[in-house]
Amino acid sequence: MAKTSESTVIESHLTENRVFKPSKEFSKNAHFSNLAAYKKLLAQSIKSPEKFWAKEAASLLWSKKWTQVLKWKAPFAKWFVGGRLNASENCLDRHLTGPHRNKAAIIWEGEPGEKRTLTYHQLHREVCLFANILKRNGVKSGDRVLIYMPLVPEAAIAMLACARIGAVHNVVFGGFSSESIKDRIMDSGASVVVTADGGYRRGQIVPLKQNVDQALAGVKQVRRVIVFRRTHLDIHIEEGRDVWWHREAEYVAANCAPLAVDSEHPLFILYTSGSTGKPKGILHTTGGYLTQTAATTKYVFDLREDDVYWCTADIGWVTGHSYLVYGPLANGATCLMYEGAPNWPEPDRFWKLIAEYGVTILYTAPTAIRAFMKWGDEWPRKHDLSSLRLLGTVGEPINPEAWMWYFKNIGKSRCPIVDTWWQTETGAIMIAPLPGATPLKPGTATLPFFGIDAAIVDDNGKEVGPMEGGKLVVRKPWPSMLRTIYGDTPRFRKQYWSEVKGFYFTGDGARRDKDGYFWIVGRIDDVLNVAGHRLGTAEVESALVAHPGVAEAAVVGRPDDIKGQAVVAFVTLRSGHKAGKDLSEAIRKHVAQSIGAIAKPDDIRFTDVLPKTRSGKIMRRLLKQVAAGKAITGDTTTLEDFSVLAKLGAAQE
Ligand code: WTA
Repeated sequence: MAKTSESTVIESHLTENRVFKPSKEFSKNAHFSNLAAYKKLLAQSIKSPEKFWAKEAASLLWSKKWTQVLKWKAPFAKWFVGGRLNASENCLDRHLTGPHRNKAAIIWEGEPGEKRTLTYHQLHREVCLFANILKRNGVKSGDRVLIYMPLVPEAAIAMLACARIGAVHNVVFGGFSSESIKDRIMDSGASVVVTADGGYRRGQIVPLKQNVDQALAGVKQVRRVIVFRRTHLDIHIEEGRDVWWHREAEYVAANCAPLAVDSEHPLFILYTSGSTGKPKGILHTTGGYLTQTAATTKYVFDLREDDVYWCTADIGWVTGHSYLVYGPLANGATCLMYEGAPNWPEPDRFWKLIAEYGVTILYTAPTAIRAFMKWGDEWPRKHDLSSLRLLGTVGEPINPEAWMWYFKNIGKSRCPIVDTWWQTETGAIMIAPLPGATPLKPGTATLPFFGIDAAIVDDNGKEVGPMEGGKLVVRKPWPSMLRTIYGDTPRFRKQYWSEVKGFYFTGDGARRDKDGYFWIVGRIDDVLNVAGHRLGTAEVESALVAHPGVAEAAVVGRPDDIKGQAVVAFVTLRSGHKAGKDLSEAIRKHVAQSIGAIAKPDDIRFTDVLPKTRSGKIMRRLLKQVAAGKAITGDTTTLEDFSVLAKLGAAQE
C-alpha cells in the first residue's frame, strides 16, 4: 500500500477557483448547450462507447459498411471491422455534389505575403493530379511516402493524395535535420520522398531539398524524390531520382478514383519522441481515425458552416494532421493555413491574419500564447479581432495566467477557450470542454470527450479520489488510438500497456477536482520528488509565470543530497524587469505563496530564451544538465534555436 501511494501520488497545491459559464450568445447556436443533457449523453457514451462511435462513423461515406463496430483483444483494437472507405474521398469528393463545391477549403498565406485560396473543387483536382503523379512514379497501396514540406497547400495535397491511393504518409516536420529524415526513412521503409526546394521561416529560406539530399547520401532505398517549387532556390537535381512536381503534372490526368481501403488500412506513421532515445513511429489507421477526428472537430470546435477555422500547428505534428487536414476537411470547413513565424515581420502577424480573413476559431498552443504575452498587449490591440468566437489550446497544460491573458486580450472576454488534451498516440482529442455547455476553469481540459473512458489511477489501476494525484489512463479502446509502434510491437506493449495492467497509460500525471474535471499536471517523467513530495513541474511553472516579472518558466530537478531533488527554475523576464538577487527573492516568495514552501525554487536562473523543440516543448533534458552543472551533450537536432545553448551557458545565477 505504502509503496503504491508513494510512487504515484502527485501532490497538487495549486487551486484555481474561477469559473466561466458559456455565454447565452454562444450557447444559442451551439451543438450542445444544455449541461445536464450533455452530461447524460456523456455518461451513456462512456458506458457504451461503441454505440456512440457507430453513430458518428455512420456520418462518413463508406463504400462498404462494417460488420462489427469493435474487435478488442488488448492491446489491439480493430474498429469498424470489414468496413471500407477512403479518407480523401471523405475529405473531398463528398463535398463536391452539394453547396460545399465552391466553398473555400484552404485559404493560404505564405510568410512573404502571397495569398491563395483553394475551393473544395480545386483542392480535389490538385489531389487527383498528385495522386496520379505518385502512381506514375510507382507508388502503390501500402507503400510509405515521406513528406518533408513547408506549410503550403501542397503539403496537405500530398497527404491526401497518399490517402487517395492507399499509400501511407510519414510527414517529417520541416525543421528537422537531415539526420532525422534519414532515421525516419530507414525506420518506415519509405521509397519515395516529397519535398520542396525550400520554405520560408522568419525571412529566411529553409533549404529543404538540400537537407533531403544529405539525408539520402548512401541511401538506396529511395527511388524517387518529387520536388515542389516554392522558393526558386537553386537546388541539385539528381538525374534518375529527382523530378519536379510541376513537370510531372503535365503528364497526368486530373481524375483519380479513390481506392476504398479496409477500415484498418494504415493511413499514416508519425514519429514522436519518447522519454528515451529513438523516436517512435506511431501508426494510425483509416476508419477509426477519421471518425474521431471528424467528430471531435465538429463538437469541440462547435463548427459551423460559416466558420473560418485556423489551427496554427504545422503539418509536421499530429495537430496538423488531425486538426488542419483530416478533421476540418471531413467536416467541409474553411481552413486558414499560414506558412511562417508568428513574429514575422512583426509580432502582430497572427492578429493581422485574423483581422484580414475574419477568422472565427483560433487553435494554438500555450507556448505561443506565452510568447505573445511577452511581446506585449499592444500587438493584438492594434487589430480588429471581433470575428473570433472560439479559442483553443493544445500541447501542454496551460497555466491559468496564460489562459486569462488569452481570454481577455484575444477573446475579449467573449470567446470560450477549449483546452484540449490529447497525444500523437491518441490521434484525436480525448479530454476537452464542449464550449456551449461546459463551464470553464482556467488551466483544465475539463471532461472527457464522448466515449472516452479516461481515469486517474494508482499503480494498481485503482481509481484515486477527488484532488488526489495519479496516472492518467484510458480504460477502454477508442477509434483513433494508435495501433502499434511501427515495426516495434514489443515496445508498443511495454511503453503503453505494461505500466498499469489492462489500461492504456498516457505517461501523464493528473488529478480530478470535485466536479470531475481533469487537471493535467504534466508528464510523469517531468515530476520532481522534493523531500519526499512529488511536485509537477508544470504547477511550479504556472506559479512562476503568474509573477508579474516572469514571461516564461521551465522547472527541472537537480540532485540534492538532503532533499533528493532541488527545484531549479529557468525564467525569461517580461520587458521592464531586471534580473538580479532582489527579483529572484521576490519570485521565490511568490511561488511559496501560491503553492507552498515545498515548491520554492532553490535556484532561479535568468535567461533570454528557453531551449525548445520545434513544436514548442521545452527541452528539459538539456535544462537538467545545465541545472546539474553539466556540459550539454547528446542530440540537439530538435532545438528551436541553436544559439540558445550558448546563451544558457552564460545564464546568470
Ligand atoms: C501534453 C499533442 C495538458 C501531455 C496533441 C501529452 C497537454 C503530450 C495538453 C502529448 C493539454 C497535450 N493539457 N497537457 N491540453 N495537450 N498535452 O504527442 O503531456 O505532441 O501527453 O500531442 O502533451 O504531446 P503530443
